[in-house]
Amino acid sequence: MSNDKRHPRVKEAFQLDGDEQAIKEFYADWAENYDKDTSGIHYSACQSTYDLFTRLPDSEYLTVDVNDKSIRIMDIGCGTGLMGKKLADHGYSNVDGCDISLEMVQQADKLDIYNELTADIDINQPINPDWRDRYDVSMSVGVFTPGHVDPEALNQLIDMTRSGGLILVSTRLAYYDSTNYQQVSDQLEKDNKIKLLNVDKDRPYTDDSPAHYWAYVVLS
Ligand SMILES: C[S@@+](CC[C@H](N)C(=O)[O-])C[C@H]1O[C@@H](n2cnc3c(N)ncnc32)[C@H](O)[C@@H]1O
Repeated sequence: MSNDKRHPRVKEAFQLDGDEQAIKEFYADWAENYDKDTSGIHYSACQSTYDLFTRLPDSEYLTVDVNDKSIRIMDIGCGTGLMGKKLADHGYSNVDGCDISLEMVQQADKLDIYNELTADIDINQPINPDWRDRYDVSMSVGVFTPGHVDPEALNQLIDMTRSGGLILVSTRLAYYDSTNYQQVSDQLEKDNKIKLLNVDKDRPYTDDSPAHYWAYVVLS
């Protein structure tokens, strides 16, 4: 008997292999039931990310006041808007979202909490130059997971975020263990692009797996 406790959708997601078309088709098919299914597996990545956001250590480099509810935030791979909803529930009023999947963004749009929502954004690719240094905070929750994005996509988060701004990322354990995420993160620190502020390791994510949650300040 298999010990694999992953939800069938999660198993399928692991097989996407970063293929843009496959990801779009998968999420087009899942969008309507995503919230119900992820609630069924106690998906808690947004809460864990919010916990990290509200418990940042002091840093001379960080110039974002995370208590200021008008800071400009980008939710990358926003999906149906679960992270945006968490932020809105805590009073944050200046949140944009983007995602590769039109159907997921259409679900997020129904919440009426995002300022600007953009579909067809592949975070594995360079960003639109208009988005450079645009955000005080960029966060990506549930996206650095097998079959979705490369660790190098961190560069796009850096490009979107102003110097002194904040980046928050979740990495599902299987992703962290099977990719060069740590190496990419270390190299970006060596290159003085980011500084790691905090990492919450093995925090709640889904019933079948924990995740690591990373907070970086952008240096350049
Ligand atoms: C597991 S869902 C997480 C959604 C949301 N952040 C949440 O926490 O519920 C992963 C999301 O990442 C998006 N995604 C996958 N690959 C992407 C890519 N290369 N660029 C941008 N978004 C991507 C998917 O369309 C999907 O909405």
